[in-house]
Amino acid sequence: LELEETPLELGGEQGRWEEERLRTAALSFGAKRERELGVRQEQERYQLILEEEEMIDFVSTAITMKGTLSEKSHPPLSADLKKQSIQEVRRSLPIFPFREDLLRAITQHQILVIEGETGSGKTTQIPQYLMEDVSLKLLLIRSGLPRRVAAMSVAARVAEETGVKLGNEVGYSIRFEDCTSERTVLKYMTDGMLLREFLTEPDLASYSVVIIDEAHERTLHTDILFGLIKDIARFRSDLKVLVASATLDTERFSCFFDDAPVFRIPGRRFPVDIFYTKAPEADYLEACVVSVLQIHVTQAPGDCLVFLTGQEEIEACCEMLQERCRRLGSKIAELVVLPIYANLPSDMQAKIFSPTPPGARKVVVATNIAETSLTIDGIIYVIDPGFCKQKSYNARTGMESLIVTPCSRASANQRAGRAGRVAAGKCFRLYTAWAFKHEMEETTIPEIQRTNLGNVVLLLKSLGINDLIHFDFMDPPPHETLVLALEQLYALGALNHLGELTKMGRRMAELPVDPMLSKMILASEQYKCSEEVLTIAAMLSVNNSIFYRPKDKVVHADNARMNFTVPGGDHLVLLNVYNQWVESGFSTQWCYENFIQFRSMRRARDVRDQLEGLMERIEVEVVSSLEDSVPIRKAITAGYFYHTARLSKGGYKTVKHQQTVYVHPNSSLFEEQPRWLIYHELVFTTKEFMRQVIEIDSGWLLEVAPHYYKSKELEDSSSKKMPRKQGKTKDELG
Ligand code: CDP
Ligand code: MG
Repeated sequence: LELEETPLELGGEQGRWEEERLRTAALSFGAKRERELGVRQEQERYQLILEEEEMIDFVSTAITMKGTLSEKSHPPLSADLKKQSIQEVRRSLPIFPFREDLLRAITQHQILVIEGETGSGKTTQIPQYLMEDVSLKLLLIRSGLPRRVAAMSVAARVAEETGVKLGNEVGYSIRFEDCTSERTVLKYMTDGMLLREFLTEPDLASYSVVIIDEAHERTLHTDILFGLIKDIARFRSDLKVLVASATLDTERFSCFFDDAPVFRIPGRRFPVDIFYTKAPEADYLEACVVSVLQIHVTQAPGDCLVFLTGQEEIEACCEMLQERCRRLGSKIAELVVLPIYANLPSDMQAKIFSPTPPGARKVVVATNIAETSLTIDGIIYVIDPGFCKQKSYNARTGMESLIVTPCSRASANQRAGRAGRVAAGKCFRLYTAWAFKHEMEETTIPEIQRTNLGNVVLLLKSLGINDLIHFDFMDPPPHETLVLALEQLYALGALNHLGELTKMGRRMAELPVDPMLSKMILASEQYKCSEEVLTIAAMLSVNNSIFYRPKDKVVHADNARMNFTVPGGDHLVLLNVYNQWVESGFSTQWCYENFIQFRSMRRARDVRDQLEGLMERIEVEVVSSLEDSVPIRKAITAGYFYHTARLSKGGYKTVKHQQTVYVHPNSSLFEEQPRWLIYHELVFTTKEFMRQVIEIDSGWLLEVAPHYYKSKELEDSSSKKMPRKQGKTKDELG
């Protein structure tokens, strides 16, 4: 990891460049060795001793460097900053001097676009100004944010600032979690939840102000909200619409909302020095860990923010950091390592905002949620590997996958900007200056153009919007994506051949989950296994974070995981885990002993309770299939028949499009390799992996999706060799 300094214009301010070279060869060598040795478990003792020595070497190099660096480094953060009272902090935000002007502008205009640097106070302050202003006679304010964590943490912050209990006047509502009451005036919610509000209240009659926050994120839901809200604003002149955005693309928002005025909050920003690596990094996770430790031992006080792509990576990085700090012990100052990602439970989130203890350094390891949605005070150093996880959608094959891709230059600059909020900062980019200029896109493509639209089309259809081709999109989705969404909904039985919503479709739209998952749940009625399918749906929605695999107990963890294996596939393993946990009396201890993440299980239970609550509304009786896994697997097939793969030479091929895919090594069917599989999702890492798979009988496909599959397609020489299974299916078909 070698760093190169290249001047770069950032936010109009010329970066300041220091003569500085972070020496890292020793450390990265140590890290590489460690990884090589890590595989060879029989040499564990030797490995520990060696690492210890290497680490000591590194620390002594670093301390000498610290001496030479100190006079150039930035002054320590003012301790007073941390001691300011809440009201003082509020008054110190960039938005505060514009309070009166802003309120006037809101009174004068129905739709207002508000632009301001991240952290200027848009999300937390604007609704409070509105609440404090008696002349505005507010009914309800809804603020739609693209992320769960942001909605929760912001609501908590605002409740604190206004001195009310969270859930009373100020609350939040996110999928599967509602923290509001009769008294709630200000409700922070995800953009997806705001969208669902249209189902119960198509003209948003009980709202007086709607804020579309983080508009620049251009999530699918935000884009749809734009169209819907623009439409209702025309006949609800009393509704105020505020579109809040970071300093990106605001002209386009104004233009879309019939030239709505833009209110600009001037930003305050300190210069940020940007460093690039000289050569590309082979392992950016490792490079992050190394960089954090370097900053920690060589740089002046100030907290550090690392951008990674997702929960698994973040957890791995935190573990690696903690592990190395443990080994270094008292040789280094305390390093407080904190993760933050969308599914992190709320009790854990609060920690990232708590002040860093004196003498320690905080390092927050985040997804791009910290790019614009969350502001953590005191960040001076940013480490940016330059990647993000993006949904990508192939409209030809209908395959959606999450891919780790280089982020855009706009993102990279937002990330760097996070270092310069409280003082001059530094941003370490773990890629080359060349890559920044030539390999990164200028801006991120809006989600609507790279995702499956099934969910949104179903929702729009149930709002009575039939002509989707002429819907007022800010950036229309590709035509073939829309067509494919309609086809898929037709195949799922949600739309009839005229493209109208069926009774099934209406029931599917009631569930706040993807169409395939809601179809699976609805199909469980017919197969009399709703009890089990609800559990599976809940477990699937907690996102692959059930099993815990600490680095120092890999063997134990893997054994524990093996013990849950049941025939049939991963969905059934998840069911088994959940059922055993129920038997243990939802025990924390049980989770601990079995290497199961308690937090994930608790969330799965919440999700399950919520879904079960909705069953009555869509008239599905909750019954159990008892020990029989066939009905359960059929219900899954009824929802996910699109995701069928067949074993062929050299791997699996998807049935409809002949794409080559592989069973994920974590799967319980990794070694078994059954002939027919249904997968829950595809992830692309080194290749296209199917995550969460079950074995099915090809005959079921004809049973659950007769208008999608033709028996000829499902024939192959090998299936004829399996008369037992074929026969069984026919019996069941009766
Ligand atoms: O929306 P915008 O990016 O303009 O700013 P904001 O999210 O309203 O943040 C304004 C201030 O509130 C920042 O200084 C944050 O650090 C602080 N804040 C906080 O302390 N805790 C939160 N959960 C959210 C914001
Ligand atoms: Mg904000």
